[in-house]
Amino acid sequence: MTTQNLPGQPQLAYRGNELFTESMRLRDLAKQHGTPLFVYSKASMLSALASYQRGFAGRKVQICYAMKANPALGVIQVFAQAGCGFDIVSAGDMDRVLAAGGKAEKIIFSGVGKTRFEMRRALEAGIGCFNVESEAELEVLSEVALSLGLRAPVSLRVNPNVDPKTHPYISTGLKSSKFGVAHERVVQTYQRAAELAGVRVVGIDCHIGSQITQEAPYLDAVDRMLDLVEAIEAAGIPIHHLDFGGGLGIDYNGETPPGADQLWKKMLAKLDARGFGQRQLMIEPGRSLVGNAGVCLTEVIYLKPGEQKNFCIIDAAMNDLPRPAMYQAYHQIVPLTPRPDAPKQWDVVGPVCESGDWIGHDRTLAVQSGDLLAVLSAGAYCMSMASNYNSRARAAEVLVDGSHAHLIRRRETIVEQMQQELLL
Ligand code: LLP
Repeated sequence: MTTQNLPGQPQLAYRGNELFTESMRLRDLAKQHGTPLFVYSKASMLSALASYQRGFAGRKVQICYAMKANPALGVIQVFAQAGCGFDIVSAGDMDRVLAAGGKAEKIIFSGVGKTRFEMRRALEAGIGCFNVESEAELEVLSEVALSLGLRAPVSLRVNPNVDPKTHPYISTGLKSSKFGVAHERVVQTYQRAAELAGVRVVGIDCHIGSQITQEAPYLDAVDRMLDLVEAIEAAGIPIHHLDFGGGLGIDYNGETPPGADQLWKKMLAKLDARGFGQRQLMIEPGRSLVGNAGVCLTEVIYLKPGEQKNFCIIDAAMNDLPRPAMYQAYHQIVPLTPRPDAPKQWDVVGPVCESGDWIGHDRTLAVQSGDLLAVLSAGAYCMSMASNYNSRARAAEVLVDGSHAHLIRRRETIVEQMQQELLL
């Protein structure tokens, strides 16, 4: 049997005429669990993590998986067992990490709008660090910690004002962005932190954006961060850890982001040159750990050829795969069992009542109704952003480990969807 790997998709291969993830035939999973179905490869997640680990060999680093990319308990478990920490953005995220066996002291808490309730919960659990995003938040955190007789470990998220050259909705390190403490105010905000009895300065962090495919913005951010660290330390405030955030892009459609190992070798050379190479380091990768480890399996419901467009209507929709509608994002779409017929151009769309409900425009496919397709690079920011729009059930999720498939989330039922609601 011939094996044909898919470019940029380490866990996927056609064996003969069938698409496999690791040793599992995807058609079998679709038949067993129905569609739409998300399927993740554990080996692919661990190999993405290994690339970071190679890049950091011999250094002090804590890799905190940014779980907003994919917060499934089964996925968290994989990273917790591999020794990762977690970057969270809500108390709900924290509860997921703790439920899946992650350690509180390896949690860092990001986000511009942490509530007092969330701060209390995180302090009581003993998380490792709050990534504070504003002066107002710093004051409130100090107050909350004092009310519990504690000191909150803090890092300030600084806004380095570099352009990550990605989609505007996922650029976060520009001056115009709501994130982080403005570069000019960083030193004085650290001075304020040093005065507050309820906080303890432990680090500094930045995160400049997501789906970054070039090295230059990262290297610029390092320089700007280190300039700040030097200024803060010159003001008498020691900085224990340096956190460079996440953001490394993946190959959706032929993009060529640097490998995590290559990028970090360059970043570390820069840190070494400026005398910071032996500091405690942290990073918060999300997409690059899980994005290409996942696919969404879907069935073609109807074909609707037309004068101007041919529509291929599938059973997955913008509620399952929101990235095309939100960011005009591209996901490859491939058949689970390729047909020998001549291909045609199709707009691949979902059943939701919106013209924005498209998954791929102008795709060249040989398809028939009833065929199974895989939407690729669906491991990050798909299920985590899924909704019940049009009363659609959220999909089931399966995690493949070699020849074993674990169901990690059952398909939602309509009873579960209505459970929180009350009749008049
Ligand atoms: N750290 C912080 C503070 C973040 O805000 C994010 C992502 C990450 C780490 C992880 O970034 P990553 O390594 O995954 O790029 N929904 C969008 C992506 C939003 C990213 C939000 N922040 C999408 O589907 O492209």
